[in-house]
Amino acid sequence: MKKYHLATYGCQMNEYDSAMIAQQLELRGCLPTDNPEDADYIIVNTCSVREKAEDTAIANISKLKHAKELNPELKIAVCGCMAKNRGPELLKRLKVVDFFVGPDQYKKIPELLMGEYKGHHKLFLDEDIEENYLGEYAKLQSDFSTFVTIQRGCNKRCSYCIVPYLRGPEKYRDTNDVLTEVKMAADKGVTEVMLLGQTVNAYKTPNADFAQLLTNVSEIEGIRRIRFTSPHPRHYTNELIDVLLNNPKVCHYAHIPLQSGSDPILKKMRRQHNIDQYMSVIEQLRSKDPYYGISTDIICGFVGETEADFAETLKVTELAQFDTAFMFIYSPRKGTESAKETEILTSEEKLERHTRLVELQNSITLKRNEMMLGRIEELLVEKNSMRDDSELRGRTDNFKKVIFRPANGKIIKPGDYVKVKLDDIRGWTIRGTLED
Ligand code: SAH
Ligand code: SF4
Ligand code: F3S
Repeated sequence: MKKYHLATYGCQMNEYDSAMIAQQLELRGCLPTDNPEDADYIIVNTCSVREKAEDTAIANISKLKHAKELNPELKIAVCGCMAKNRGPELLKRLKVVDFFVGPDQYKKIPELLMGEYKGHHKLFLDEDIEENYLGEYAKLQSDFSTFVTIQRGCNKRCSYCIVPYLRGPEKYRDTNDVLTEVKMAADKGVTEVMLLGQTVNAYKTPNADFAQLLTNVSEIEGIRRIRFTSPHPRHYTNELIDVLLNNPKVCHYAHIPLQSGSDPILKKMRRQHNIDQYMSVIEQLRSKDPYYGISTDIICGFVGETEADFAETLKVTELAQFDTAFMFIYSPRKGTESAKETEILTSEEKLERHTRLVELQNSITLKRNEMMLGRIEELLVEKNSMRDDSELRGRTDNFKKVIFRPANGKIIKPGDYVKVKLDDIRGWTIRGTLED
């Protein structure tokens, strides 16, 4: 039996596409392996969102030379966003790679790797306006929790962002396909589902908008927790907020990218939201549930960002009280609008702003975690704790990680739901004790 090794970089949508590719290979009888040197086929699903993401992938792809020397029959495909972005140039640099496959061409991967393709092309990068996973379903991410992409591409064209150029225009996946995939997962025992899209709450088909889709998913037997990422602040309708706060299966957590705290910078980013709109979404969610979990993405040192703009970012970060934040240093991406502008800030200046923001957010994260102490929460157990194998890690509805010890004699495994009293904090990590 042939074995495949699959490495994934980038966002959850890439994880989902990898699961699609895995499913197609397994339907053809292949088995997964964690060891690239043990594989007949290697697939690297790549990301281009920041320069660092590309550099890491390129360095790791170069290292596959050794596996190819051990097994000259080995076939390697690089797919996803970086394949699309830089395939023609990398073809010459990364000789070890047999095929570069763009995001819309993932279905070709099995035939390419398995030698069914007899041509001499190495680049399969065409955009396919029709590609929308029609009738295709991915391998589960785990036995109890999985991703389902409901939107491909993006129409927003934020001025710093390369995603729309690589993933193409926004397409919403057929509602019946989405519901079928969730049902299939639930039938296999999955209880948590995460719906994915670059602006996931803009979802709209003739059958459902996003609020309706959440309701439909919540009616599927066996599903206990519904998550989604990433919503755009602009697409929070009143109906949606109502479902988010009142449907008991929809988790009280959202990752809502802020990007900057300064209105002029947001305008320059072409974000289609301002700070008032952003804060109004947060206030609506947190006024009903002060524990509503909110995380965000923030870019530091965007081209043209002054010290005063950055001070606004610090101010809004303080005001919004994010539970966590992904904070990025601006990385100009060739082909995007903002990359045409010359940067004035040095790398050190950008890094210094980033460090200040991280420090502020760390203190807020700690405060938000401390706020949880004393509460009794239901956890979905995810895995053994990284530090101590005898301990387990689970997540609350509002997406807080909690470490706890299983009680004597009681077997608890990933996928179980348990009640825990949150009673301690070590570092940033919340700890809990099992309730009887
Ligand atoms: N679609 C999502 C974000 C996808 S990209 C949204 O708009 O909400 C994930 C994050 O990467 C973005 O939110 C942004 O913060 C960051 N990012 C995108 N392009 C970037 C760039 N050129 N430099 C630094 N960070 C960037
Ligand atoms: Fe990029 Fe903006 Fe689309 Fe998000 S919404 S993927 S940041 S263009
Ligand atoms: Fe990266 Fe592509 Fe996702 S650029 S963030 S993998 S859409």
